[in-house]
Amino acid sequence: MEQYTQIGNVRIKKTAVLAPMASVSDTAYRLLNKEFGASLVYSEMVSAKAVTYMDKKTFELCKILPQERPFALQLFGSEPQTVALAAKLCMQFSPDIIDINMGCPVPKVAGNGCGSALMKNPHLAAKIICACKESVDIPITAKIRAGWDDNSINAVEMAQALEAAGVDAIAVHGRTKTQMYSGKSDINIIKSVKQAVSVPVIGNGDVKCAQDCIDMYSKTGCDLVMVARGSYGNPWIFRSIDFIADGKDFSEPTLEERLETMLYHFSKIIEFKGEAKGMHEARKHAAWYITGEAGAAKFRARCYTLSSYNEAKALADEYLKYIKSHCSYKEGYCE
Ligand SMILES: Cc1cc2nc3c(=O)[nH]c(=O)nc-3n(C[C@H](O)[C@H](O)[C@H](O)COP(=O)(O)O)c2cc1C
Repeated sequence: MEQYTQIGNVRIKKTAVLAPMASVSDTAYRLLNKEFGASLVYSEMVSAKAVTYMDKKTFELCKILPQERPFALQLFGSEPQTVALAAKLCMQFSPDIIDINMGCPVPKVAGNGCGSALMKNPHLAAKIICACKESVDIPITAKIRAGWDDNSINAVEMAQALEAAGVDAIAVHGRTKTQMYSGKSDINIIKSVKQAVSVPVIGNGDVKCAQDCIDMYSKTGCDLVMVARGSYGNPWIFRSIDFIADGKDFSEPTLEERLETMLYHFSKIIEFKGEAKGMHEARKHAAWYITGEAGAAKFRARCYTLSSYNEAKALADEYLKYIKSHCSYKEGYCE
């Protein structure tokens, strides 16, 4: 039987959600992963200050298509009134949820008191949630880390402060700020947060396959699982999780399917960004789609020179031909 998690009035299938990822989870990425089964998608992080300046580029990041729903729009900021005003201004895009970034470690964000810097100040973080709750009528969620560093693990204290302020759900990435994206995400921290609060908890960190997702649910008791880098060149992660939840058989995609999906993804990027800018951004995705495939090293470097859809198609055809003539692909053996 299908299971759901309720965040405020938003019902989300208890499979996996696509994480916010700046410069990655744009409209094309979200639509693709949604088609493959992501049960909730987040915008890239958006500067609350830039929203209040009515910055045109920033507003572009806030646009939502009907097929993306349910949709969480993520803001970062450090001043409660600015974030609350930004949340109100963002209502013109009708997000289903507003999420506040309390985990970003990059100096441009944390150095200005935003993102993971809020882990050092749960009181201020709670004030931001309070101000947003007063400002808009939709669920307000937060995405936090384990803590600032190994000596200041405070996700539980932070989560309790946010709950008292009225937060509707909390996503927990089990790494500290100083870990950035390296080392391991600590699943026990997510479990401790789940045991300490009664709002839904979203477990995040190192979910790379369906089994990792199942483990995240069973080891932490969390209400939803969030996938970030595990979706790189791999929207099938959502399909496999979704199929398993529905008791259906999932089979891994063939190389042909991977390359077809890559080209489909590129056509979507081009639809929203135009061919020149779109293909520039598509290069990293191309490399991700063939990571781990037999004989990929030879082709990866060429991904970073792609400048048109036709070049990508030609590279995909050439790669497939190469694999068929050089490799016993079925056995994962090459040359
Ligand atoms: C390229 C990149 C961009 C990211 N941008 C954001 C962001 O805008 N907002 C946010 O809350 N987290 C952001 N994150 C963090 C992810 O959402 C996630 O918490 C982190 O990658 C851990 O999950 P994973 O182990 O599944 O990758 C970003 C991560 C990456 C790799």
